[in-house]
Amino acid sequence: MKNDLFYNIDLNRVPSHIAIIMDGNGRWAKNKFLPRAAGHKAGVETIRKVLKECKRLNVKYVTLYAFSTENWKRPKAEVDTLMNLLSTYLKNEVKTLHEENVKLNAIGNIDELPSKCVEELKKGIELTKNNTGCNLNLALNYGGRMDIKNAVIDIIKDVKDGKINIDEINENTISNHLSTKSIPDPDLVIRTSGEERLSNFLLWEVAYSEFYFTNIHWPDFDEKELQKAIYTYQSRDRRFGGIK
Ligand code: IPE
Ligand code: IPE
Ligand code: MG
Repeated sequence: MKNDLFYNIDLNRVPSHIAIIMDGNGRWAKNKFLPRAAGHKAGVETIRKVLKECKRLNVKYVTLYAFSTENWKRPKAEVDTLMNLLSTYLKNEVKTLHEENVKLNAIGNIDELPSKCVEELKKGIELTKNNTGCNLNLALNYGGRMDIKNAVIDIIKDVKDGKINIDEINENTISNHLSTKSIPDPDLVIRTSGEERLSNFLLWEVAYSEFYFTNIHWPDFDEKELQKAIYTYQSRDRRFGGIK
């Protein structure tokens, strides 16, 4: 496999969790004088490519930011396009994901999505629940602040019900009440299209993640760009507050 790499990646030090803010579909389309929907459609192709490469490189967890709690602010037609693409993607892809031993998971307020998306998601999660390969985690109607708010409410309930004492609450208590509780924190966060912000993605979990920003729009991101991000990640010195 060493020979099919674009960059000299150390295959023994590939990040175990890569989280991606897939941004720039609209601008990609605009640059080509196409409707924004064409950008979102092209973006789905990139998801296929990138996932395949993540599996090949043995990335254990991939989280994709597909729809934020703030994305409802967009025109209804665009939201509808995104939801249709989501349900179609799941309908077409879940079987293949299952054959490739991928375990599907979703974070975010899933029940507020259109019912056809909820159905496909639940079917996919159920079908793939015993798979042991790559974990694909879709962030849908997800917001980091919403997730922390929900965790606070759940912890307060646990205290009220006498399940935990206030003086037992520590950082792990919070991590264990987030929707990402079964997933390790991201090692690498990638954002495409030149924006350098989190836009409410995994606020708690990225405390010590490495960030990689590229000007490339999501539909133009590919295997080579993913490898470049991993290569850059491997050149970083993760100190976690300590010294070397
Ligand atoms: C990312 O592309 C897709 C979603 C946020 C759902 P955008 O739609 O944000 O594209 P830009 O940022 O407008 O170019
Ligand atoms: C972040 O992108 C959300 C997703 C990629 C799903 P946005 O395009 O919504 O973020 P802002 O508005 O530029 O911060
Ligand atoms: Mg955007």
